[in-house]
Amino acid sequence: MPEYFVVRGTVEHGDERGRELGFPTANIALRDQDGSVGDGVWAGWVQRGDGTRVAAAVSVGRRPTYYGADGYRLLEAHLLEFTGDLYDETLVVWLGAHLRDQQAYSSAEDLITALKNDIAVATQWTAEHPAASLPEPGDSPLGEVRRVQG
Ligand SMILES: Cc1cc2nc3c(=O)[nH]c(=O)nc-3n(C[C@H](O)[C@H](O)[C@H](O)COP(=O)(O)O)c2cc1C
Repeated sequence: MPEYFVVRGTVEHGDERGRELGFPTANIALRDQDGSVGDGVWAGWVQRGDGTRVAAAVSVGRRPTYYGADGYRLLEAHLLEFTGDLYDETLVVWLGAHLRDQQAYSSAEDLITALKNDIAVATQWTAEHPAASLPEPGDSPLGEVRRVQG
């Protein structure tokens, strides 16, 4: 039985660095700022407000490259085939495959190299785990990381 983490949340404005890096993200605030359930980098799927599903590479955690160990804990989804605006949309995010832990990179270039690799792995994983095979997300409060059985 595959297991997923699922997070519902409304997209907030980030600090726009993702666009500068070339990898824009949809940012979702997490309720639990002290915990670590689901932290890391994931391959997964994002469901938009209109029900369409888009493959994604997703970061959950504190972005130690920029904010050290005390950063604000959030989810950031980079949608693999999407250009446009997601602000204020409520998304459902499935975290399917844990790719690695969050890391503090010594330069933006090193982070970009890691992101490119994450995207390649997420592209392959989502091709092998199509959106139609996802479990029901259930109902959960916005910003809560929930475990869901496939
Ligand atoms: C797939 C993915 C992996 C990421 N991995 C890390 C990481 O290991 N360490 C880190 O500090 N930030 C990581 N990030 C977060 C980036 O630092 C963040 O997206 C960037 O700073 C832009 O932030 P913004 O959306 O608020 O502008 C990752 C983001 C994505 C989408």
